[in-house]
Amino acid sequence: MCGIVGVIGNQDATQVLLRGLERLEYRGYDSAGLYVNDQQGHDHLIKRVGRIRVLSEALDETVSGTMGIGHTRWATNGRPTTANAHPHVSNDERFFLVHNGVITNAAALRDAYLQDVDLVSDTDTEVVVQLIAALARTGLTAKVALQQTLGLVEGSYAFALVDRLDPATLYVAKNQSPLLIGLGDHFNVVTSDALAMLDQTDRFVALQDGDLVTLTADTVTIEQLDGTPVVRPAHTVVLNDGDAEKGPYPYYMLKEINEQPAVMRRLVARYTDAAGQIQLPAALMRTLQTADRLYIVAAGTSYHAGLVGAPLFEQLAGVPTEVHLASEFGYHQPLLSAHPVFIFLSQSGETADIRQVLVKVKAQGHPTLTITNVETSTLAREADHFLTLAAGPEIAVASTKAYTAQIALEALVAKALGAAQGRAAAADFDVVHQLSLAASGQQTLIEEADVLHAAARDLFATTRNAFFIGRGVDHAVSLEAALKLKEISYVQAEGFAAGELKHGTIALIEQETPVVAFITDPLTAAHTRSNAEEVAARGAKVFRIAAHDLARPDDQLQLPPIDARLSPLLTIIAGQLMAYYTSLDRGYDVDRPRNLAKSVTVE
Ligand code: G6P
Repeated sequence: MCGIVGVIGNQDATQVLLRGLERLEYRGYDSAGLYVNDQQGHDHLIKRVGRIRVLSEALDETVSGTMGIGHTRWATNGRPTTANAHPHVSNDERFFLVHNGVITNAAALRDAYLQDVDLVSDTDTEVVVQLIAALARTGLTAKVALQQTLGLVEGSYAFALVDRLDPATLYVAKNQSPLLIGLGDHFNVVTSDALAMLDQTDRFVALQDGDLVTLTADTVTIEQLDGTPVVRPAHTVVLNDGDAEKGPYPYYMLKEINEQPAVMRRLVARYTDAAGQIQLPAALMRTLQTADRLYIVAAGTSYHAGLVGAPLFEQLAGVPTEVHLASEFGYHQPLLSAHPVFIFLSQSGETADIRQVLVKVKAQGHPTLTITNVETSTLAREADHFLTLAAGPEIAVASTKAYTAQIALEALVAKALGAAQGRAAAADFDVVHQLSLAASGQQTLIEEADVLHAAARDLFATTRNAFFIGRGVDHAVSLEAALKLKEISYVQAEGFAAGELKHGTIALIEQETPVVAFITDPLTAAHTRSNAEEVAARGAKVFRIAAHDLARPDDQLQLPPIDARLSPLLTIIAGQLMAYYTSLDRGYDVDRPRNLAKSVTVE
């Protein structure tokens, strides 16, 4: 949800900022801009509507400098136009500002302080930069003007600010939006995500809410808003730089789909010892064992992974488990059990909807665990406990390997909890074997990509709508398969509990309406088959995906063997690949679908 970068020092600022923005493009991509200053009296501000590529094409060699800031936008306040693109500049052309977040009292600030200033954009960010300039005009230094402005603004922000009168200094500030400082040799960088600056440094300081940082080429000074100095530790971010590259794949999404078998194996290796015993932090195990009920809170694809995980916690560990949408839970909290434990599932670890729940339940004194793919993320830092998905960077906006990693890790945690409590159901569930079946089964399905491509062409090439149906975990995976198709191919797709179709929605079935039926649950397979028959009788084009031991010869796809409770680890591969090929065949940008962003840091 908007990405910001900054650099100060001895680097070619334009190139550092552009490369960084390309890697932050997953956070938003409707417009972009950068400001660079050569610290010798020359500077440039360039903004464009569209992708980073468009911005890059607008630059020539004259646009160079040794310091600067950049931004890639996912519009919140105001349409994607050049005027609304960042960096925003004060009318006196002294201050340049990039911002990730939402200032909720921008209108009030404008009315109170900027009556005589003509605003040229519709953004909250411009109000902030004009306010800094207005305060500076009263004689305050840039830093004090920024400090006072931060005292007035409400909402979320990661800011990077340049004062043209002092281009040897870069100011940054953070509240609720992620921001890291990368430490270099005679230079420092600023970024929303370490990934974007890994070609510059692997040493990062994760800022905390309320931090105000003054950067020069050689110094990083962190203070709280009242001027109290603070020291934040630097961490080394270990990541194979190549993990963030597409390699031979045409799109990141295909690369990430293909990585899933390796992710399964890596997770098992990470969380088990040589004897195959699950190893989780002792403090986490103690916390989990206090739970009389687990609350999984998540959004989007991660919420769908939670729906698959809940029955695992109930069956293996015997703990009642509820799954909630973060955006709903925070403001309509249900009555909690006496000893709740919260599990936050999030690929990015930055989702604002989840963070507001985390803050609230921590204030209520409840224990919290974050499961995320980004170790430096806000949710990872702020929860009492943290487990990594270790899936490697997921760049495509549509989540794939993070979803299957979340399910696999839920299975490992549920098994460990059940085993710690001596439950027979846990003893009978060989999770390590099942995850190895998942990895090999995924590989088989990936190798059948041609079959799924042909199916996608047949089912979805021209359709305006589609249905995915199933019961139990097949319902959960139906929701995720439908979301994949919606996100990247813009087909109106619905995931549906198979038994509910007949209670109304079947009215939407017409000649050739595509319906994908997932049949992996032995208890309800016969019923789901009947539901598939019912829609076929009304003209639907039905594609049945059935478990190994439930399949019939005329089912279109038979899955490799796996415990039914983990079947989503296989069925979703079909859903992901069909969505991928539909998007590809329709000529869309698979990795960067319209209107979306990968990390959603606004509510
Ligand atoms: C965004 C993304 C989705 C993702 C959701 C939750 O909307 O586009 O793909 O599922 O956020 O994100 P999280 O990072 O918390 O899993």
